[in-house]
Amino acid sequence: MIFDIITLFPQMFSAIRDEGVVARGIKKSLLSINTWQLRDFADNKYRSVDGAPYGGGAGMVMQVKPIRDCIAKIKQKKPQSTVIYLSPQGEKLTHKLALELANLNSVILLCGRYEGVDERVVEHDVDREVSIGDYVISGGELAAMVLIDTVARQIPKVLGNSASLNDSFAQGLLDHPHYTRPEIIDGQSVPEVLLSGHQANIDAWRKQQALKISQQKCPYLLKK
Ligand code: ADE
Repeated sequence: MIFDIITLFPQMFSAIRDEGVVARGIKKSLLSINTWQLRDFADNKYRSVDGAPYGGGAGMVMQVKPIRDCIAKIKQKKPQSTVIYLSPQGEKLTHKLALELANLNSVILLCGRYEGVDERVVEHDVDREVSIGDYVISGGELAAMVLIDTVARQIPKVLGNSASLNDSFAQGLLDHPHYTRPEIIDGQSVPEVLLSGHQANIDAWRKQQALKISQQKCPYLLKK
């Protein structure tokens, strides 16, 4: 799967390109991440790509032309790419959406800054708008990295041993608790059942804990 990222801050993506699950996917040639500096598509010597908003108000708006030119350039080689704009107005990023996106071969991620992009880009150039939650962050880059990480986990062989099948949301629930050595610390012990060696009982306990925690912390998951 190829991610082409349109951004004013390409260096930020070294955070996922160099370490962790995404880096592993890149090493195995299952993923690639290309960044495109939007300023390279500016038509002025200041390399400016934004303008003041019509109607007045605070902040700046990212202009249509550089974004449109950059998308066109990427699509010369990958005409089938799906263009995703990261924005708080988008559909929520969920496990289900990550599974769906993991089926795509090439995705263009458009990262907004300032007040976002000119709405005509959203109307004409963007296929999907995706949000990572009901809050505002200072740009689409962190949201794009969250999306890439969760989608990458769902691409076969990126994680060893199909580990992503164990992601708790694959069952639609929060995860059960985990414990490791030592058995007792400061008077706190590991639940007996996990030391029993009885796998069916362990599985049943984990399922029951996942249900209980989901009910307590995210009851809407059970309603689904
Ligand atoms: N850009 C700013 N806030 C965002 C959010 N919540 N999700 C995706 N992109 C964003």
